[in-house]
Amino acid sequence: MSNSQIPPPKNSPQLFILHPDMDFKRYLITAALPYANGSVHIGHLAGCYLPADIYARYQRAQKRDVKFVCGSDEHGVPITIRAMKEGITPQDVVDKYHTIIKDCFEQMGISVDIFSRTSNEVHKETAQAFFLKLYNDGLFEERETEQYYDEEKNTFLADRYIVGTCPICSNDNAYGDQCEKCGSSLSPEQLINPRSTLSSAPLIKKKTKHWYFPLNKYEDWLKEWIVEGKKDKWKPNVYGQCKSWIDSGLQPRAMTRDSNWGVPVPIPDAEGKVLYVWFDAPIGYISATKELTNQWSDYWCKEDTKLVQFIGKDNIVFHCIIFPSMLKAHGGFVLPENVPANEFLNIEGQKVSTSRNWAVWVEEYVKDFPDQQDVLRYVLCANAPESKDNDFTWKDFQDRTNSELVSIFGNFVNRTFVLMHKLCGGRVPPLHQDLLDDADKAIIADIQQSKKDIETCLETYKFREGLYNVIDLARKGNKYMQDKQPWIVAKSLADTPDNQKLIDNCLHLCLQLTANLAILANPFLPFTAKKMCHMMKVVDKMLDWENAGTIDLLKVNYPLRAPELLFRKIEDAEVTAQVEKLNTNLAKATENMNEQPSKENTGNDTKIPEYKPEIVFDDFAKIDLRVGTIVTAEKVEKADKLLKLELDMGNGVQRTVVSGIALHFKPEEIVGKQVTVVANLAPRKMRGIESNGMILMAQNADGKLIFVSPLETADAGGEVK
Ligand code: MF3
Ligand code: ZN
Repeated sequence: MSNSQIPPPKNSPQLFILHPDMDFKRYLITAALPYANGSVHIGHLAGCYLPADIYARYQRAQKRDVKFVCGSDEHGVPITIRAMKEGITPQDVVDKYHTIIKDCFEQMGISVDIFSRTSNEVHKETAQAFFLKLYNDGLFEERETEQYYDEEKNTFLADRYIVGTCPICSNDNAYGDQCEKCGSSLSPEQLINPRSTLSSAPLIKKKTKHWYFPLNKYEDWLKEWIVEGKKDKWKPNVYGQCKSWIDSGLQPRAMTRDSNWGVPVPIPDAEGKVLYVWFDAPIGYISATKELTNQWSDYWCKEDTKLVQFIGKDNIVFHCIIFPSMLKAHGGFVLPENVPANEFLNIEGQKVSTSRNWAVWVEEYVKDFPDQQDVLRYVLCANAPESKDNDFTWKDFQDRTNSELVSIFGNFVNRTFVLMHKLCGGRVPPLHQDLLDDADKAIIADIQQSKKDIETCLETYKFREGLYNVIDLARKGNKYMQDKQPWIVAKSLADTPDNQKLIDNCLHLCLQLTANLAILANPFLPFTAKKMCHMMKVVDKMLDWENAGTIDLLKVNYPLRAPELLFRKIEDAEVTAQVEKLNTNLAKATENMNEQPSKENTGNDTKIPEYKPEIVFDDFAKIDLRVGTIVTAEKVEKADKLLKLELDMGNGVQRTVVSGIALHFKPEEIVGKQVTVVANLAPRKMRGIESNGMILMAQNADGKLIFVSPLETADAGGEVK
């Protein structure tokens, strides 16, 4: 057999296997829709918005067809709770926070193509149509169950609206789904003395009908799609959670709720019912894309779309199990190729808590550190909770900024520019090929290798490692320059004619490395990359990914600008101030939660008190205040805080009031005292005793209670106005 007859190798992987992503024509990148009931803190950024943004920026730099969509999640109980707390409507709440969140994202360079919202019309139509399709296909199971109902407000109560005593830590204000004090997750049935947060009406149970999505029917498919299909493709934390959910068996899940805030259930006989927020919110990704482009269905329905959904770990089950099952049931949609979820970011060793205000708020960061967005992006990515919960500390923020961004990256770029101006006349010096030595060749190879490494990291969602490689290239640049010492070479220019050429080569390569750094850092540090382009006088186009790995980005003899400061040092005082701020916020928040009043508040500082939202006179006029005289007072059995009082309300009328003042007064001390009574408060049972009204008390800074009484003896039953 002659050589010419040998067929070409058939299965050579280098020749025939395309890059796996070559099959995708479009990238649809989503980031979890944040609840519009609060502002954005750095845990949100680290959890999903920053990684999603890095990925989107990278894919755009690859010139791929990218749509990055997000928006605010404006339905659900957290919004209605917030509205109640602030005394405004749910729409007011979402309007306020939608704007705040959008603004935070813009400031931090989260480059969404659209930031939509689920209270808009497109979304309502899209979500209703989705539900109707499943409904008409006969997919839902209708079930009647008993749920807690508030008779005074005529409403079913979501778990969050029910409070009571936590069976685990005895916190009196545990929610029906969770105790915020000890963190236990609860069901309303577990609460001791459950009560409504909306009124003082006793809770009753009432029948209600809902539509259940039969998740159990998707178990086999999910096993195949995730358990078998995603094993080495999804991150272990995501895969593991999915597997354990699926292994423990899936149950039908109600996709509707009794509420007046949300997307109305679009079928007859569903008055007062809305779509469950976890049904409507993920459809928000589709509605947002619809709003963004007429071609939305290319992104959602064509198989050659790569759908990547960035989320935080508390969203895994919804995005990996429920939403894909919904998409599958509906038919015609692509499924997520990947769902890269991060774990949580703690702050200074403690879990983020918005109710305790233990958080670093983005709004405040950008005020305290103007123009330092990339620094935060850097620290959050370098320390991202990619595979386990991680800790953010201000000290680490300072260390990383000062010893990595300032001393390595910033320093390298700055030295390169300063020396180029000093030793090469402010222009890109030529590269003298004949004089290239091993060190030069090695740094060229490093540039090429870095591009490959960082690319692999970004394709596989290893953003931390990718960023590490960026800094590492700058570190190598510094070492290269340190070894070459062009400033020393410059001292003996006269002796050796080649010396200027050696300087040229060093600075030529350092400049090309700088240009490479701009491209490679761009997905992570876009503000910095932009500054670097300005210094190099190049257009943004240079940042295209394909340009990385080469050393002809800057033209020989091209004049460059003076160096700009890329990063500044973080001072000790700034760290101290931020830690103090955290602690002060925490103290204030805990004080507001009516816990131990803090000591600072007993001094004569002139803090402006935080009043409840303004009311009109009619609101006040609803409260019937009367003078009552305490006739008898006795302790309530097995309740060390309660006293049972009999009050003389005038005209021979007596009434019983149970009051939580037993730790402050001895029963015999208070008999005969006149007090102010809220006389028209709905009755409420406490320890089996019906309490009819409430007594007003003043509270001192140290927690001591004092009766609010008429200064002179008044008629029992007299109105207080
Ligand atoms: N609002 C949810 C959260 O903040 C996330 C919703 S993501 C979506 O945890 F898919 F439902 F939109
Ligand atoms: Zn508890």
